[in-house]
Amino acid sequence: MGPEDLRKVLRLLPPGELREEILVGLDTPDDAAVYRLDGERALVHTLDFFTPIVDDPYRFGRIAAANALSDIYAMGGTPLSAMNIVCFPCSLGMDMLAEILRGGHDAVHEAGAVVLGGHTVDDDEPKYGLAVTGMVHPGRMLTRKGARPGDALVLTKPLGTGILATALKAGFLSEEEMEETVEGMAALNREASLAALAAGARACTDVTGFGLLGHLFEMLPEQGLACEISISSIPLYPRTQEMAAMGMIPAGAHRNRDFLAGRVEFDVSMGEVDRDILYDPQTSGGLLVALPPDKLEEFRASLPEGQRWFRIGEFFARSSPIIKISA
Ligand code: CO
Ligand code: CO
Ligand code: CO
Repeated sequence: MGPEDLRKVLRLLPPGELREEILVGLDTPDDAAVYRLDGERALVHTLDFFTPIVDDPYRFGRIAAANALSDIYAMGGTPLSAMNIVCFPCSLGMDMLAEILRGGHDAVHEAGAVVLGGHTVDDDEPKYGLAVTGMVHPGRMLTRKGARPGDALVLTKPLGTGILATALKAGFLSEEEMEETVEGMAALNREASLAALAAGARACTDVTGFGLLGHLFEMLPEQGLACEISISSIPLYPRTQEMAAMGMIPAGAHRNRDFLAGRVEFDVSMGEVDRDILYDPQTSGGLLVALPPDKLEEFRASLPEGQRWFRIGEFFARSSPIIKISA
């Protein structure tokens, strides 16, 4: 669902219950809900599921689980347990479902958490995901808001998964040809989250359905802060530009673009393809982290060898929240 539709529906709900245990709930939208147990511990709750974006059932399971776990990491939490959510047509055969669940199980295991159960529904189109529960220290949780003027903006995975998955569906790419992308989507955001915590990140979210610009916009308060990113610093999965230029733009990218109309200032030299990529909805995208520049070295040093990260922009003071894209 696009951000505009979602807002309309949420407005129709009665106001969220006020309890002091609710640190993050419906009234303060963020990556996951946070419920305080005591002064040291809070539970982090999230759930996510979707239709297959790759053909290999095991890898689809892994990606779906990495994506569901990501919202726990975006809050600075540690995953504890997960429940499977399965919609599946029996006609596809139980072996395929077993492979999807094995992929999900392996990703949850890698996260140090356990799958405790789940629920299945007979459905025409397969869907898979998980509800995940994690733990966070109430004083150390990472939320979307909190960046300040002068903070650096870091992204921890390349962009392009929506465009490349669209090209895969249309038969312009094979799954082998998007190997790096599949690996990237299956990778956990755990190390990036731990590094963000270690370096004292001011704010954090993960890049998913609203695209880079949609999720970055959610990091901006209603006034006082804006962000400038440089297009040349944005990392892309292989062949993203080529496939975008061929028109492999998912419908979600257009919704994201409409939603942000008037809130993004592009450098005049930027073409349509580059703009589409910045609105591209991501599956299991990286973390967006706001850090004081003098903490970047600590962030880098906290990441394991081989974990990529990219400094893509910087926050600055401005009366109204906008995102500037420079060449
Ligand atoms: Co999220
Ligand atoms: Co989320
Ligand atoms: Co989510």
